[in-house]
Amino acid sequence: MNQTIVDMVDPSLIYRADLDNFSPASALVYPVEKKGAVYVLKAAYDSNVQEYSHVSREKEVLERAGDISGITKLVYDYGKVGKYIAILKEYFEGDDLEALGVGKLDNKDLWGQLEKTLTELNSLGITNLDLRNQNIVLSLDRTKVKIIDMETYDLKDTMNRNEWERLRQINFNLLKSFFTPDAYG
Ligand SMILES: Nc1ncnc2c1ncn2[C@@H]1O[C@H](COP(=O)(O)OP(=O)(O)OP(=O)(O)O)[C@@H](O)[C@H]1O
Ligand SMILES: [Mg+2]
Repeated sequence: MNQTIVDMVDPSLIYRADLDNFSPASALVYPVEKKGAVYVLKAAYDSNVQEYSHVSREKEVLERAGDISGITKLVYDYGKVGKYIAILKEYFEGDDLEALGVGKLDNKDLWGQLEKTLTELNSLGITNLDLRNQNIVLSLDRTKVKIIDMETYDLKDTMNRNEWERLRQINFNLLKSFFTPDAYG
């Protein structure tokens, strides 16, 4: 079934069931292989209006934030293929914080990486990200961390300064909620 959907977007992609430890998604999200490299295919069916617009907005923000290393990059924009909209993203091997199911992280370096990523996104005028534990992936060796889902966000030029500051603070507090005070203190 998953390979069938992948084929409809790009028959040269191979669905990698062995890497599919992904948390359940609202969009169609699959680890896939192309020419020996692994990527993530993220797609939405056009009758799913909300997800369709989410994937399209994610593509736009990934274009804007292409230089930020703490997020999974846009590799290819398929645009509309048949009834799907689809993008290919960098795959970041590891486990999302929900799947990992550990308590709070106490690692200062991991906190530093996420704080830097959020600060860099803010400097591009991007805030109000959906920083739930399913959207943050820790590498297999547990030394690197990335935000892997950018489909929810707001842009600075659509709001006043107070709102910007408020949303910015909410995002930092969300990130802090995954760590012990020692890690971010
Ligand atoms: N680039 C990636 N690298 C590694 N794992 C990923 C990547 N993208 C997604 N995943 C895994 O797939 C899951 C679903 O992906 P994603 O969050 O993008 O879908 P979604 O439809 O936006 O989900 P939701 O709307 O429920 O947040 C993630 O929780 C994560 O486990
Ligand atoms: Mg998600």
